[in-house]
Amino acid sequence: MSDINDLYAQARHAADNSYAPYSNFHVGAVVVAEDGRVFTGCNVENAAYGSAICAEGNAISSAAAAGVRKIDTVVVACLDAGECYPCGNCRQLMREFKVNTVVVQDGEGSLRTHKFGEILPHSFGPDSLENNAN
Ligand code: THU
Repeated sequence: MSDINDLYAQARHAADNSYAPYSNFHVGAVVVAEDGRVFTGCNVENAAYGSAICAEGNAISSAAAAGVRKIDTVVVACLDAGECYPCGNCRQLMREFKVNTVVVQDGEGSLRTHKFGEILPHSFGPDSLENNAN
């Protein structure tokens, strides 16, 4: 398993490819699957603003498309902000694939590591549908 600083460097590198002409807010993300495979993503904006894709969602989708169903760690890097946390929608995307750990920058040159439940407590997920009569 890669060192967390190396994963963060990969997330920053992914952010270099961010397509963010509208917000100028460049984000990169790294996903480490349960089996150790690593996927990267950046945010991709659109003239129809609501069609923007977040970096985390992009990386998670790449992992899912490669067959990943369980993610260990997500690392987020923002080039244009200090402290930088995933948006609510990305937290929900993480929930689906059982993310254990989320690593973010603290804006002072260090990384913060969170258990997933700290950033999305009392969440709705696949198990929430288990008793659905349908
Ligand atoms: N963005 C991300 O890529 N991830 C987040 O968790 C928060 C926001 C992107 C979306 C948009 O392209 C830009 O940052 C400004 O919101």
